Amino acid sequence: MSRVIAVANQKGGVAKTTTVANLAAALSQAGARVLMLDMDPQGSLTLWSGRNPDELDKTVYDSLVKDLDSREILLPTPLGADLLPANIDLSLAEMELVGMVARERRLGGVLAPLRDSYDFVLMDCQPSLGLLTINAFAAADEVLVPVACEFLSTRAIEVLMRMVHKVQLRLNSKLKVAGILPTMYDRRVRHSRDELDALVERFGGQVPVLADCAVPRTIRFAEAAAAGKSILAFAPLHPGAEAYRRLAKVIGGEGLAAALDEAAASRSLSLLDIEEPRIDVLVRKDAPRPRR
Ligand SMILES: Nc1ncnc2c1ncn2[C@@H]1O[C@H](COP(=O)(O)OP(=O)(O)OP(=O)(O)O)[C@@H](O)[C@H]1O
Ligand SMILES: [Mg+2]
Repeated sequence: MSRVIAVANQKGGVAKTTTVANLAAALSQAGARVLMLDMDPQGSLTLWSGRNPDELDKTVYDSLVKDLDSREILLPTPLGADLLPANIDLSLAEMELVGMVARERRLGGVLAPLRDSYDFVLMDCQPSLGLLTINAFAAADEVLVPVACEFLSTRAIEVLMRMVHKVQLRLNSKLKVAGILPTMYDRRVRHSRDELDALVERFGGQVPVLADCAVPRTIRFAEAAAAGKSILAFAPLHPGAEAYRRLAKVIGGEGLAAALDEAAASRSLSLLDIEEPRIDVLVRKDAPRPRR
């Protein structure tokens, strides 16, 4: 039976899709069988996996709304994990589900034929707390919450936690918060360090704040996505890859840790693995201007 993890935050652009793709790659590299589920009509995860969402005629929408067997939409991906893809059709589901019986539990039925075939199911939620995300929470064992250290919204996380609590009471009593994952962290910037401290202070007593896995801010993530690769394949020894390997160890436990270390050790360093310098840190503002 797989562990089902919803990666969610109603705030946009906090690295939900990046986390699903790279965590899936890290867990796969350690030998785990991983299924990714695109629950976002934007289809970003589907695109990352090398598929054009607009060209797919069968997607998670068909399973969710029309009861198509999810095995019929399953696709392999270069990330090492399989995918249930999505496209803009999924935006209709939100409306069409409203009138259906047990509308919050439809996703459980989609996953049922696949749950024995995978160790982990990672769901990429859309940036909202609508019916699609509620379906994800109702079908999940755990919720993982990426939070960008740049524009921390304590309020957004509080609202999300309240939603998790409601789902625990009404739909899914076994739902747990796997943790808050700080992303886009820049240890050289004071604001970023302050945000991380604020996160630990505000939520650390309630849920695990995975500060040891804080994902550094780096352009390598965008570059890796553009190349259709995980950062583990694109720049395996970069601190960004290391952060997702560490996260995979926390999520996967000791069993996967040794396999992950072995996979990393077998690579040799490339220029992409080196953390890029920040221009604004290198150039002092009060430095004398060069003479003409
Ligand atoms: N650690 C990081 N450092 C710098 N850029 C990052 C990092 N993680 C993700 N990004 C970039 O930030 C952008 C948003 O990331 P992503 O799409 O994963 O966020 P999201 O939460 O899934 O967004 P949405 O809410 O729209 O679904 C992307 O361009 C991605 O490449
Ligand atoms: Mg996304």
